Amino acid sequence: MKIIAGNWKMNGSRSALAEMQGALDGIKTENRVILCVPFTMISGNSGPAAIGAQDVSMHSHGAFTGEVSAEMLRDAGAKYVIVGHSERRMYHGETNEIVRNKAEMALSAGITPIICVGETMEEKDAGKTLEIIESGVRESVPSDGGDVIVAYEPRWAIGAGITPTDDDIAAAHTLIAETLEKMGRGGAPILYGASVKGANAAQIMSIPHVDGVLVGGASLKSDDFIPIIMATK
Ligand code: 13P
Repeated sequence: MKIIAGNWKMNGSRSALAEMQGALDGIKTENRVILCVPFTMISGNSGPAAIGAQDVSMHSHGAFTGEVSAEMLRDAGAKYVIVGHSERRMYHGETNEIVRNKAEMALSAGITPIICVGETMEEKDAGKTLEIIESGVRESVPSDGGDVIVAYEPRWAIGAGITPTDDDIAAAHTLIAETLEKMGRGGAPILYGASVKGANAAQIMSIPHVDGVLVGGASLKSDDFIPIIMATK
């Protein structure tokens, strides 16, 4: 069983989500399928894919105009929430500490956080990939609370049509697994994300410690997403 999560980013509509759920109804899979969609599409949705959000406030309630709390996400029916996606880190200045606070809020509402870590091109070129990944996990993953999922997303490969080598993905995921083990979170699923498509999904999910994938662009259309789900049983 693998976890196949889609991140719709700021795309889609309620009718596109209903259409996707309808298409997913037509396939048979043991894999856990999750769709992380914009806030407006969460409530009232149903179908084979569990629904997740893409961000959550680090505050529980109050005067935070424009923010959405973990309790509100739970109330709307979200089971998962992506925290610390590189686009949030890049455009909204989210640090590991903020990401951990958000993950803690999700856990307190019974929502599973999908916590993203990954290096920029500059960090990769400076030979800092493993250092950034390890500190990302240590500082962003809450030490206790319910289940978490970690996603390794090399930032330079997102939407770029390129991926790290299998060996580099294996090294990153092994380090994440070891770090989680040391934190008392051994066995938490670790997803790979960045330029996953039908053509590379099976190979990527055969790499040790890759428990599934977090898919951006190729999760928007069922013709692209279903082959990823069916790439592994
Ligand atoms: P792409 O699959 O479009 O590269 O996006 C990856 C991503 O950011 C998923 O969260």
